[in-house]
Amino acid sequence: SLRCFSVHSLPDELVSLQNMCRTFAQNELKPIAARLDKESIFPKEQINKLAQLGLMSICVPKKWGGSEYSTLGLAVAVEEIAKGCSGTGATVSIHNCLYVDLLSRCGTDKQKEQFLKPFTTGEVGCFALSEADAGSDVSGITTTARLEGDHYILNGTKSWVTSGSIGKAAVIFATVDKHLKHKGISAFLVPLPSPGLSWGKLEDKLGIRASPTCSFILENVHVPRENVLGEIGEGFKIAMIQLDKARIGIAAQAVGIGQAALDVAVQYAAHRKTFGKPISEQQAVKLRLADMALRIESARLLVWRAAVMHDQSQKSTKESSMAKWAASEAATFVTHAAIQVLGGMGYVSDMPAERYYRDARITEIYGGITDIQKLVIGDIIIKEYGY
Ligand code: CAA
Repeated sequence: SLRCFSVHSLPDELVSLQNMCRTFAQNELKPIAARLDKESIFPKEQINKLAQLGLMSICVPKKWGGSEYSTLGLAVAVEEIAKGCSGTGATVSIHNCLYVDLLSRCGTDKQKEQFLKPFTTGEVGCFALSEADAGSDVSGITTTARLEGDHYILNGTKSWVTSGSIGKAAVIFATVDKHLKHKGISAFLVPLPSPGLSWGKLEDKLGIRASPTCSFILENVHVPRENVLGEIGEGFKIAMIQLDKARIGIAAQAVGIGQAALDVAVQYAAHRKTFGKPISEQQAVKLRLADMALRIESARLLVWRAAVMHDQSQKSTKESSMAKWAASEAATFVTHAAIQVLGGMGYVSDMPAERYYRDARITEIYGGITDIQKLVIGDIIIKEYGY
């Protein structure tokens, strides 16, 4: 194996999970990843198989049909899946972290019956928070929810919804009173399709093209009161707490992309010869490979630390942001470097390096752009010093 990270510290059940995900990715995702990317195909069949393996409900309690692994298990699984196809990794990561785990944490039993159980067996769920004018500044969202009798009426447009076009339900965030700023934001469970909800155009993205992204246009969408997730006015905190977990998932996806790029770079460098020897023996290339490996391993350690903290019910806001920042920048650095090792072969789609490079970039953007991670970390550090 070309893997450069010791896994001896993982508990046995996570080593088994890792092996299962690695085998699945190798056999079922890697062979089709280039085509999924080129033709922007959502891999429904593979998502169903992943659900059969329990990977669409990684941390969901067994009681609700889930696999009940830890967050560390989620990080291990997402890394392996993203290594095979990072578009599929995006679907798995977002569905798990921002949909089923959110339902597990905040849903009532009745909500779980309708909005969680079927989503452990292959249906995909979405998280609709961002808007065209409110991505980083969540408290500025303008989608409204007005109470009329026993229904909330939703109006507005949500952007960048991962799996929006294929999802069967979404958690949609809207404000009940804009003047209340973040304290007016509330979360609503909406089945898809729903009367009044239409889909914007499918986004034509640089990478993760196997993961469909679109906007939702909401025109008088009626949501029964019983479909409010948590309490009215709690939506901002619900989203933030969930993003603490989602950033671990995205960081794990980034580590998977980076690892895939290192694997291909080492393999290529060991075979390609210049000046009479494999380029892996040229110092310039060897040093580059070492640099790539260091960044991936450091990022993975941060991801695993954040995951373990999460599992120990410690607040991991700072560590999740650190993991996401480090892992996403590692992925961009490493995939850039992999193209350099492959030269011309890195620049064409005959080899996967150019795809990895395109796929890596999203991890610096979604789930909160890097600048936001830095602000989150900065705020916490200053408070930790008592200021
Ligand atoms: N956990 C718990 N509570 C939190 C919290 C956290 N991680 N972060 C903030 N809060 C609480 C604060 O304590 C505060 O509570 P009080 O009302 O009791 O005082 C409240 O929430 C407001 O917090 P802030 O004043 O810090 O809020 P802010 O308006 O300054 O925003 C922010 C903070 C960090 C910039 C936040 O808006 C943010 O994270 N923005 C980025 C959003 C993001 O990541 N979007 C990605 C969307 S998902 C996506 O990409 C789609 C996809 O499919 C992947």
